[in-house]
Amino acid sequence: MGRMEAVLREIILASENVYFNCNESPKFETDYPLRDDRFAKIIKDKYPTHEFERAAPLMSELRTIKSDIEIELLQKACDITEKGFRRLLKYVKPGVKEYQVQAEIDHEFGLNGANGHGYPPIIASGISACTLHYIENDKECKDGDLLLMDFGAEYANYSADLTRTIPVNGKFTSRQKEVYEAVLRVQKQAIQLLVVDNTIEKVNASVNKLMEKEIVKLGLMQQSEANDPQIAKGILFNYFMHGTSHFLGLDVHDVGLKTEPFKAGMVFTCEPALYIQDEKIGIRIENDILITENGPVDLMKNIPIEVDEIEELMAK
Ligand code: GLY
Ligand code: MN
Ligand code: MN
Repeated sequence: MGRMEAVLREIILASENVYFNCNESPKFETDYPLRDDRFAKIIKDKYPTHEFERAAPLMSELRTIKSDIEIELLQKACDITEKGFRRLLKYVKPGVKEYQVQAEIDHEFGLNGANGHGYPPIIASGISACTLHYIENDKECKDGDLLLMDFGAEYANYSADLTRTIPVNGKFTSRQKEVYEAVLRVQKQAIQLLVVDNTIEKVNASVNKLMEKEIVKLGLMQQSEANDPQIAKGILFNYFMHGTSHFLGLDVHDVGLKTEPFKAGMVFTCEPALYIQDEKIGIRIENDILITENGPVDLMKNIPIEVDEIEELMAK
């Protein structure tokens, strides 16, 4: 090992050690409340003649644009997630518990070599689907209710992020179907917005406009209300209170800015939704999309999404 390499190795080992053990003194922790700051202080004191640069900006840039191998790994994570969902279409019926649904996913992920879940899965039946980060997963799935499932396999540290909403008894009611079709229409249009040079901020604004039209058609907002942008925004927020897309990769909510122009190789989720508490309807549909010079590529294009497909697979 050369001298440079040895020094570098020492720094890396010391920094790893320090990073995970820099919580020891209460005073030190009060003076430097953030672990990153404690780490910087210790490492600078230990190596006073070195110059330090933050790696995070470089890492962020590297993380936003995926190389071919990273895309392959993400595709694999999506494909394992697909297997999990297909398993559930055969499994879900009235009376099953949300945690049992989760156990089916755990099993399928394990069978297929995933590290596990990329994030805590949301298995939300009935009204629970209207709670955004519901992860209790402890209720019984009831006849007539919808089941919103947001889960993603982690494969080689890359996470997929899928949401599908299905009827517990295998058949959507006409109202559930009406709302589902509205969200799906918006998702199909939203995916087309995931192109080079667009931004998350602009996608959100465009999708909100599309969703406003849908909620008028669904009878959740009057046309007169829709004509006033401030009122429309307020009403829309009651039913759709989160953004449409986030960066995806090593982390489920990966690094990257809302204002950053899309470049080929970036991967985003596309997850419009409607949450109608009064009707016990929470529907989110989420796919993972790769930006390319030739337009969006849906890494989840094979995962059942249409009402007929879902009903047919659940009936088998
Ligand atoms: N699974 C978290 C999200 O969809 O953002
Ligand atoms: Mn997501
Ligand atoms: Mn999700």
